[in-house]
Amino acid sequence: MPTHDRPPRVVLVTGASSGIGEAAAHRVARRGDHLVLLARGRDALERVARDCDDLGAASSTVLAADISKDDEVGAAVAATIARHGWIDTVVGSAGVVAYGRVEDVPAEVFDQVVSTNLLGSVNLARHVLPVLRRQGGGSLVMVGSVIGHIAVPDMAAYVISKWGVRALVRQLQVDNRDSPGVRNGAAIFAKSQSSRRVSRGSITSSTQNGSAVRNGERSRFSRASISSILACGSGAASISAR
Ligand SMILES: NC(=O)c1ccc[n+]([C@@H]2O[C@H](COP(=O)([O-])OP(=O)(O)OC[C@H]3O[C@@H](n4cnc5c(N)ncnc54)[C@H](OP(=O)(O)O)[C@@H]3O)[C@@H](O)[C@H]2O)c1
Repeated sequence: MPTHDRPPRVVLVTGASSGIGEAAAHRVARRGDHLVLLARGRDALERVARDCDDLGAASSTVLAADISKDDEVGAAVAATIARHGWIDTVVGSAGVVAYGRVEDVPAEVFDQVVSTNLLGSVNLARHVLPVLRRQGGGSLVMVGSVIGHIAVPDMAAYVISKWGVRALVRQLQVDNRDSPGVRNGAAIFAKSQSSRRVSRGSITSSTQNGSAVRNGERSRFSRASISSILACGSGAASISAR
């Protein structure tokens, strides 16, 4: 049941099949907005889409795409515009983590973390911002991390990627000062208690497999945390003409 009397907004969530992205999608669904759900795995996205429909989403569209591939991100943004004609808010939550020092993490694993978290965010900005600027409004929210402000032992690739995301957001804010309706923000996240437990499991699996792993699968995030992400995009209410 929609919790407002305005027309439904269009919200694109990356990393929507798990963790913070999934929780954000649920919150948006409860507001009765349109959802576009992006991640690589279609089956998990379809499960989330069914949940979102049950929770009251105006519509739920599944787009299987790899955020680290610029052409796939471009196609996903184009498909969103083709379907809805407009984007109000984009939440960039796709991310992976790997554990180890610079010299210990295999190059392909290190590159996957940076390509997903940092260059994937750049890909998203590259395709979303022209849309928001054309519209004269809308919000792009990147899910950041406390780790984008500090260095942490054995998390080299992740630390670098999250500092990069924070730099990206700052740069986008400067570059888009001429378009005051367009909001770029970073929601800063600290690990929840439950995800910290899961992440310890991930340390083991990433060490054994030598692969970048998901950050906090099956973890739960507080209402306040998810609200802080969506609050980053709440300027859409005042700047959008809808
Ligand atoms: N968990 C925490 O406590 C915590 C703390 C601070 C910051 N964060 C940040 O919050 C964001 C989400 O974390 P989370 O814990 O919710 O992660 P998660 O549960 O592991 O979910 C990650 C999501 O990203 C998707 N994804 C991964 N690689 C992708 C790619 N190349 N292209 C498209 N989608 C991709 C995954 O789906 P597929 O694998 O199917 O693609 C999944 O939907 C990340 O940016 C993370 O750095 C998390």
